[in-house]
Order: sequence, then structure tokens, then C-alpha cells
Amino acid sequence: AESFSTTSTTSTALNSAVAESETTAPVEVFRTDYKPLPHLVTKINMDFVIENGKTTVTSELFIEPNSSVEGGGDLVLDGDESCVKLMSVSIDGKELEKGKEYDLEPQKMIIKSPAPGTVLKTVVEIVPEENTQLSGLYKSGPMYCSQCEAMGFRRITYYPDRPDNMAVFENIRLEADEKDYPVLLSNGNLVDSGKLENGRHFASWSDPFPKPSYLFAAVVGNLGYIEDTYTTTSGREVKLGVYSEKENVDKLHYAMDSLKRSMKWDEDKFGLEYDLDLYNIVAVESFNMGAMENKGLNVFNTAYVLADKDTASDADFERVEGVIGHEYFHNWTGNRVTCRDWFQLTLKEGLTVFRDQEFSGDMNSNAVKRIEDVRMVRARQFAEDAGPMAHPIRPESYISMDNFYTATVYVKGAEVIRMYNTLLGTEGFRKGMDLYFERHDGTGVTCDDFLQAMADANDVDLSQFSLWYSTPGTPTVKYSSAYDASTGVFSLTLEQESKSDKPLHIPVSVGLMDKESGEEVVPTTVLDLKESKQTFEFNVKGDVVPSILRDFSAPVKLMPDSGAVDEEALAFLAAEDTDGFNRWEAGQRLYTSSIFQNMNGKESEKTLQYVFDAFERTLKGEKLDDYSIQAYALLLPTEATLSEEMEIIDPTAIHKARGAVKQKIARKFQNEISAKYEELSGLVEADGELSVDAKSIGLRRLRNVMLEYLCSIKETPEEQKAAAELAKKHFENASGMTDKMAALSALASMEGKGTEARDWALQKFYDDADGYSLVVDKWFSVQALANLPDVLDRVKKLTKHPDFTLEVPNRCRSLVSVFTMNAPAFHNPSGEGYKFIGELLVELDKLNPQVSSRLASSLIRWRRYDEKLGALMKAELEKLKAMKPISEDLYEIVSKALD
Ligand code: ARG
Ligand code: ZN
Repeated sequence: AESFSTTSTTSTALNSAVAESETTAPVEVFRTDYKPLPHLVTKINMDFVIENGKTTVTSELFIEPNSSVEGGGDLVLDGDESCVKLMSVSIDGKELEKGKEYDLEPQKMIIKSPAPGTVLKTVVEIVPEENTQLSGLYKSGPMYCSQCEAMGFRRITYYPDRPDNMAVFENIRLEADEKDYPVLLSNGNLVDSGKLENGRHFASWSDPFPKPSYLFAAVVGNLGYIEDTYTTTSGREVKLGVYSEKENVDKLHYAMDSLKRSMKWDEDKFGLEYDLDLYNIVAVESFNMGAMENKGLNVFNTAYVLADKDTASDADFERVEGVIGHEYFHNWTGNRVTCRDWFQLTLKEGLTVFRDQEFSGDMNSNAVKRIEDVRMVRARQFAEDAGPMAHPIRPESYISMDNFYTATVYVKGAEVIRMYNTLLGTEGFRKGMDLYFERHDGTGVTCDDFLQAMADANDVDLSQFSLWYSTPGTPTVKYSSAYDASTGVFSLTLEQESKSDKPLHIPVSVGLMDKESGEEVVPTTVLDLKESKQTFEFNVKGDVVPSILRDFSAPVKLMPDSGAVDEEALAFLAAEDTDGFNRWEAGQRLYTSSIFQNMNGKESEKTLQYVFDAFERTLKGEKLDDYSIQAYALLLPTEATLSEEMEIIDPTAIHKARGAVKQKIARKFQNEISAKYEELSGLVEADGELSVDAKSIGLRRLRNVMLEYLCSIKETPEEQKAAAELAKKHFENASGMTDKMAALSALASMEGKGTEARDWALQKFYDDADGYSLVVDKWFSVQALANLPDVLDRVKKLTKHPDFTLEVPNRCRSLVSVFTMNAPAFHNPSGEGYKFIGELLVELDKLNPQVSSRLASSLIRWRRYDEKLGALMKAELEKLKAMKPISEDLYEIVSKALD
């Protein structure tokens, strides 16, 4: 799964992060240039001898001609010279002669025309201790661990490092000091282990399932773990292990439980069982992304494994469950059937995100999960699609593949999978999945193969639907409607626009609500919008209000054809819609109207009244039985979501206008909100021992929304005092991290009479964290997000804090990346926010290009801002582009932004 002070570093590490671009110009790779390999490695043995400061890797590659390719020719192995040092290369014990039998380039080794059946042996040395890029084999705390997706294996040994080379990793031998590194793990089954001389020991692993190199993993360390077993439907007993640094083993239980729930769910929903006798998960502190689905040995960012009641918020628990599920589901959608080439990434990621979303929904609340996922699509994916890095879910080219682990590939990809499900129905979708596995198990395939399986299993033509794979940008769907009272015909006209030349196939879910009675007269129906403009007719008995794009049935922007929203209809839907999702949506649109009116200085009393009505009804809990939905319906759209509604984004104005509407609501309903807060406090208390089921989570969520509104009233000193007291009490009585964080975020933005409580709480929170990283990360984040005039200075000061480091991605992101989400501060008209990030990127890029290019994404949408802000952002990008050396990852992002 994907996710988000400088300490010293050695010169070797500096060189290794940038060497590539010093020696070779960045190369763009194109999807349509795919060529199968003439030779395949069908089997590999490896031997890792791990010593302090040097790891020797010996590999034996069993080479065969690829029967589907004619000609043979040279064997090209990938290898990153900045990371691996070649010691020897031989065939049948005979050293090869450089220039004659093999050649070496910075990124490859070329073996001249190997004979079928050749066994090639290479010996390389690597230095995991200096690998700050965290790709390949590296060190994190007390362990060595690997991350190979997308192209990290070439930083371990010479190999055809691409997903269409599937090999059996037959004997992976790990050897290290026994006292310092008692745990030795790799993929598959343990086949041998033992003691050696000089206090050393070894373990040998064998994975019967052929796999591409990106799914290889090794972990060697001094770790603690918990164990359990799971018995599959067909009776296979699987041994489960979850590992972490020793002091954190008490925080592994939720991950273990989530794993067992995932295994059961995939059997129930898709008939998919686990296939090895062993399943291990390791939590690693320094990790670029969320987690990695290596066969039988998942490696996780600690943030998605470790959780207990004192340190994890409800959202953290939900993320652990979701990501554990995600990686587990990859065993079939990713590992058993993998991608032929990296352009197909969404084949496994979009599909697996869809599966983890469904899993999380089933475990908690489907309706709540859908709202959360849609919020995410709108805030992050729409933004990406409207910027210079816009790409189709199946990209056409890349310089660094790591730059394409994006919201588009993942979450828009999941929306595309969801559309198959909507169009074909749950049963039809399952039939398609079954056929997909029947056809492709054990191979690497393309998105077209997936589409074909869905089409064939259901005997439908999906050729028009395939345009979703090649179209970047967010399509729009405009609607208009008319009711003919004489015939009783209601007609709904939909018109689509996108970056595709031909119209897309868009499933639009619609329901019709009777205007008078508020009854649903036409239940949810999926309309196939296949033309650029299409009219759909319904026979009804009186005028109706359409509820369109229910459940967000397609990743599009829906808008009225007239340009003006029909607020009366929205108010009606916000109150009456039988579809929970669209009821929430209608409320959000009303809030949005009101916020933009406030921004433009044209507030309409009528709109505000609609907003108040909707808020009041929701607060009273009419038509709502779920606390979480109630909470989300009372929350205004995020600043990020509002930004996507503006041609030219004005972050300061958005922040102000949103804040103003929030204040109005808070003041108008202060008594009701207070009463609700008290009522919920009673319920939370009665709930007793903290539990993380949907109902308890909902209670806390709703109560914390109340707290947020109440704490937004802080203009006068008395108000400041009252808000601070309330938040402080909330903080002190917090039964878990969710409440603690809600209180702390309110306090972190307090000034005047609230200052004392703020400083007290921040100190207390830090002290209570007692150095535990994931909580210290929260402490940094909450300060980076504070709504204070001097927040940038505070953040700068925090970069000098002894706990801050650029080398641990979680820590770096917790302060710096999170600061870029504090829109009014980051986009301060002075340009100081941009400058801060620009300067930091210079340091960061030398250490970790993947993290630096992610962070740089905060600067690339400069064309979306006004001239002044845009110019300031652009200036930072230009400085970065001119930087020498620069990593390929960062180069791709900044150069595309400046194109
Ligand atoms: N396949 C992983 C997941 O989504 C993500 C790994 C991405 N790693 C990277 N360096 N780009 O589960
Ligand atoms: Zn994934």
C-alpha cells in the first residue's frame, strides 16, 4: 500500500542516491515499447552473508530461452552499480572475461548469447547500512530488511528485474551473527537452519510458487513476534507470525486478528484460500510506503501494524485492518496473478484497493467506508488529475516507476473496478474474477486480460469501457431534467465530457423521489451513459427530484447543466433521499454553495437557511441511525475538496470562508451542540472499556465533531478561555488516542487565553509518548497543522528538534509533508512556505529520492494558483530542476511540472 534537521549521512550513501543521474540522462520508458524477454531465469538460488558494513550476495541463475520469443541473443540483467559491487561472474565455475563474454554498464550486465541451460553465478557486495533510499536491502533499527517493488531487486543482485520474469526462488540462504540477528526470514517455507562457527547461524528458505523479483523479501534482525494459526476452508493449517522490534510486540494483536479476518473474508467473498503453510508479517520503522505484499513475508510500515488502545486512534485501527487486508488480498490479486509490466500496475493495485475497501466496509460500515473513500478520491485523486502529473490509471510512460504509485493508479483504479461491479452486479463480477484466475493463475498479465475475463464471463462487450484505462483527467457529467405532467414522463438528460475522443461508458446510478410525498418512486437504477449526450425517460405519477450518481457510481464531477445548483432540490435530498450516500452528498453541496457565497461576498439568506435546516435535522438525528454518518454529514467539505471546485485556487480565501460558515453554524446552534456534546459524553462513558467497533467509533467521531464546532468559537478572551477549558477537559478525560488527538488538535490552534492550555497539552502529550515513534509522529503532525500565524516558524524550529530526522520517512512526513497540507500556511503569500520545502528538498533528495519526489508534488500544481503564488512555486521548481545532481524521481516530477 502506498502512503506519506538533517542528521548526518555517509558520503557513500550520498553518492548512491544520486549516482544514476550523474552518469546517465533520465530515460523515459513507454508502455507500447514492451518486448518479451528472449531469455528467462526460471530458478534462482541465493546466499546472503551478512556482516557489519558488508553483505555478500551470491546468486545462481538458471537460464532458459523464452519459447515464445525467437532469436535468443544476449541476456541482459539489471543491476544498479551505485549499490551493487560486482566481485565475480562465472558459468560452470569458469570466470567470464569482461568485454568478451560479458559487458558491464552502470545499470546492466550483458551476458553474450548464453546457451540454454546455463547456470550463471554472480557474487556482489552491497552495504545495506548505507542504503538511505530504502530500496533494495537496507537497515531499519535492529534489522536488515528489503523492499524490492518496483525495481529494488537490482540493488541486491544482477537479475532480469521485471515482473514478467517468474522464477522459483529455490534456496535462499541467509547467514548472520546469531546473537545480534536471531531471526532470519524469507519467502516460502523454511527448509534448513543451523549454527555455524564464530557465533554465526543460517536459515534456508524455499518458495514453491514462481514469482517476479519484486516479490522477493528477506528480513534479518533481533525481533519479537506473536504467533497464531488459521485453518482454511479446505483444512490447510497456516502458521501466522507477526514480527516487530521487541518493545512493540504487545501492539501486534490487532494486526493478527485483522489478518485472520482477511483470510476468512477472501474465502467467503471470492472463494480464495491461502496457499502456503506460513504467513509472516514484519513491522519496519523506516519504510517508504505503506506495506509490501512479498510472497509469504509481508513487510509493513510500523504505522500499519502496531496498534493498541493507548497509542492508536480509531483511524489508525481502521488503517491497520485495511492495509493488512490489502496486502493479504494481493496474494491472489498481485502474486498468483501478477502484472506483465509496470504500466499494468493498476491491474493489481486498483483491484486490491477495491477488495480492501469492500473488506473494511463489511467489517465496519459499508456506508461510512464509502463516504470516506469518496472524500479521498475528491481531495487527492481529483487534484492529481487536474495537475501536471495527470495520467490514465494505466500510464503511457514513466521515468521513475516509483512516481506512479499514485492516487490515480490506486484509488481511481479502484473506482474503475467498482464500475465493473456496478455494471455486472456482484455475481457477474465474481464470475469474471473466477474466469480471470482460471485463465491467468501463475502468470503476469495486462489490464486488457482482466477486462476480457470480465467481458467473456458475462458475455458482454466492454470495449467502450476500456477507455477508462487510457483517459486521464476527471470527466464531467452535466444533467438537466424535465417533467411532462400531461404524459407523466420525467426525462433526465446526461451529457459527458472528458479527455477521451470517444465517449466513455459511464454507469450512472439514479433514483427518483416524489416531490410531494418524499417517497422513492424509482429505486436505484444503473443508467448506461455511453453517448456524449443521452436522455433517459421514466414514467412517474407526479413530479420527482432525481437523486443522481448514487453511491458515487463513477469517478466523475456531476454538475447541473444550467451551471446554477438547484438548492431547493438539494435541501429536499439532504432531508429525504433514501440513499444515505446522496443524502450526505446533498448536504455537502449545500455547505459548498454557502462557503463560496461567503467567499464572493454574496451570501444569500436562503442558502444559509437551507444549510441551517440541513445541519439542524442532522444534529437531531432524523433519518440517521449511524453516528459516523451523522458526524460526516455535520462536517463541512475539506479545504482540499473545496479547492477542486475552483478554477484558480485561493487557499487563504477558502480557509477564511469555510471558517466563517463553520462559525455561523457553531454560534447559531451553540446550545444544541453543547447539549449533544454532553449527551454523547454520557454515552461514551456508558460505553465503558474502549472498543473499536463501528458504534463506539461513531460515538467518538460524532462527539469530536461537536468538540470541533464548540472550540471554533474563540473570538473574545472569555470564549478563548471556555474553548480551552473544554478541550483541556476532553484531553484529560480521553479514554484513548482518538479523543486525545481531537482535543490536542483543537488546543494546538489556540491563542490568547488558550495559549497556556495549548502549551501544557503539547508538553503533556510529548511526555506521555515516552519516545514511542508513532505517537511522537502525531505530536509533530498536530503542530504542523495548527492554525496559528507563526506556524511556519514553529515547524522550522521543530526540524531542529532532537527527535526529528529526514532519514525515517514517517518522521519526515509527519512534520514536513503534513505542513504542506496546512493550506493557508503553506500557501502563505510571502512564499516562505514554498521556500522552506524547496530548501528541504535539496537535502532530502540526496537521502531518499522516493520521499523527496512525493514531497515535491506539493509544489507542482502552480498553474492552479494566482499569478503571484504560481510564480513563487515555479521559482522553487526551477531551482530544483537546476540542482546537480538530482535524482530521477525528483527530476521527473519537477520537469513535468515545468513543461
Ligand atoms: N505493492 C505495494 C502495495 O500497494 C506498494 C509498494 C510500492 N513501493 C514503491 N517503492 N513504489 O501494497
Ligand atoms: Zn497494493
